[in-house]
Amino acid sequence: MNKPFRRRDLLGIRNLSAEEIIGILDTAENFREINSREIKKVPTLRGKTVINLFFEASTRTRTSFELAAKRLSADAVNISVSSSSLSKGETLIDTALTLDAMSPDCIVVRHSSAGVPHQLAKFSKAAVINAGDGANEHPTQALLDAMTIREHKKMIKGLQVAIIGDILHSRVARSNIHLLTKLGATVRVSGPRTLVPNDFQHFVEKNLLVATNIEKAIEGADVVMILRIQKERQDSAFFPTLREYAIHYGLTQERLNLAKPNAIVLHPGPMNRGIEIASDVADSSRSLILDQVKYGVAVRMAVLYLATGGMPIGE
Ligand code: CP
Repeated sequence: MNKPFRRRDLLGIRNLSAEEIIGILDTAENFREINSREIKKVPTLRGKTVINLFFEASTRTRTSFELAAKRLSADAVNISVSSSSLSKGETLIDTALTLDAMSPDCIVVRHSSAGVPHQLAKFSKAAVINAGDGANEHPTQALLDAMTIREHKKMIKGLQVAIIGDILHSRVARSNIHLLTKLGATVRVSGPRTLVPNDFQHFVEKNLLVATNIEKAIEGADVVMILRIQKERQDSAFFPTLREYAIHYGLTQERLNLAKPNAIVLHPGPMNRGIEIASDVADSSRSLILDQVKYGVAVRMAVLYLATGGMPIGE
């Protein structure tokens, strides 16, 4: 029996225990089957309301939170920031209080600034779920990545996971480093020196290695996770050109051959084909990019269910 998921909000992976993470993953495994039924709907969250509040663009996360809520029979409301009163100068806190006055059960928020979900959680009676805050965390992405890895590798403990690319600006990298090291994997990060934080070793848990080049990071890896260049968060030139980036840091078939023969390739999306990942690698049988998207719905169903008071469901 898993320990109950005691947290109402899901603000990051950093403060979760390994038991809590496994509890969410096992619950997601149980919800997964609903997504392949002909009628993809169960009454689990009937009468609950979920608000999606996205201040940054999103295809995967926003759509899958909406689908997750609807498949559990919750009412889902999407707020487009460009057409909300935020565009008229309303503060984030006033927006949070306004939404709270309508008694939602859950607010899912994405923002370009780190810490916004934590602020919102202080002012809101609803459970707050972080759908990505600046370069800080993207907890549901790490959970769906873990679900994909577990499906193909059976367990996470003992795996060698290479995370390659724009580590500095990546909330996906941070959440994954927390999650994977808590569950016993070793993580090797690599990218241009300008895009790997100098003090990286200090703020994450043990089992994190900074590889001097991408080949060293990939050699013998079980999982190769490629990150998008976060142009929107780069305020200066971190590398000369995209072409040079592709040559020195892009995942090609040749580089992937350095990993274990059964290594899998992950990318959180959206991907820039021909830059951080070659098209033939992205479309190969080792690439699980669409599986990640598929498991994203089950993970978000589990997170909404747990955040609104559900008990973890064991495998
Ligand atoms: N992985 C991810 O967060 O994708 P979106 O930006 O499309 O939500």
